[in-house]
Amino acid sequence: MQNIIEKTIIFVQKELQHNESGHDWFHIERVYNTAVTIAKKEACDLTVVKLAVLLHDIADSKFHNGDESVGPEKAAGFLESLAVDPEIIEHVKKIIENISFKGGNFEKNFHSKELDVVQDADRLDAIGAIGIARAFNYGGYKNRIIYDPAQQPKMNMTKEEYKNSNGTTINHFYEKLLLLKDRMNTETGIQMAQQRHNYMEGFLNEFFDEWKGYL
Ligand code: ADP
Ligand code: NI
Repeated sequence: MQNIIEKTIIFVQKELQHNESGHDWFHIERVYNTAVTIAKKEACDLTVVKLAVLLHDIADSKFHNGDESVGPEKAAGFLESLAVDPEIIEHVKKIIENISFKGGNFEKNFHSKELDVVQDADRLDAIGAIGIARAFNYGGYKNRIIYDPAQQPKMNMTKEEYKNSNGTTINHFYEKLLLLKDRMNTETGIQMAQQRHNYMEGFLNEFFDEWKGYL
């Protein structure tokens, strides 16, 4: 199995070498380390967790006209080429199909402990210090301003408010990042998310105080 993991790492590094920084190899590496930390404390199949993490962003549907089957198919095809047990392949494929946060309109039709672990680790990479760094990196890439005081950031914006917002990076915390802690699956993931969530809240408090010149 170790050999298969190593071959998968080499494949993924190569596939992602030109990816934008939100889903580059280092994202996979961080999620892998986090997933292993969680998996050690939860009863689950570590091989399935590792393979699913490594292959979960192998094809972003944003770059395939929203086609969400490209990634899972590509992952399965690769694992077949290594003659991995078909049951493991099927499980990994299902995890990749079901991992994404799709703003709540996504019906979960598959469940496993391994999916819980991989999804928690992926979500953890969007929050905390790393999450803050990724958010501002994404905002810069999209040429967005960091914050606009004319737009009070808030949770649960209506469709209308969302449409009229100019999508500042601070708003992204309220529309997504601050909501993730309540979407964690595993006990270990919940604890890790709480720490990262507190760090983001501290950051936001400091940010607004500095903006007003209080600090
Ligand atoms: P995921 O990896 O969960 O599918 P995305 O592809 O939407 O998420 O985002 C990748 C990274 O970019 C995440 O860290 C996310 O928080 C960040 N990001 C996505 N949309 C925005 C946005 N509108 N403003 C700031 N950061 C964003
Ligand atoms: Ni990811």
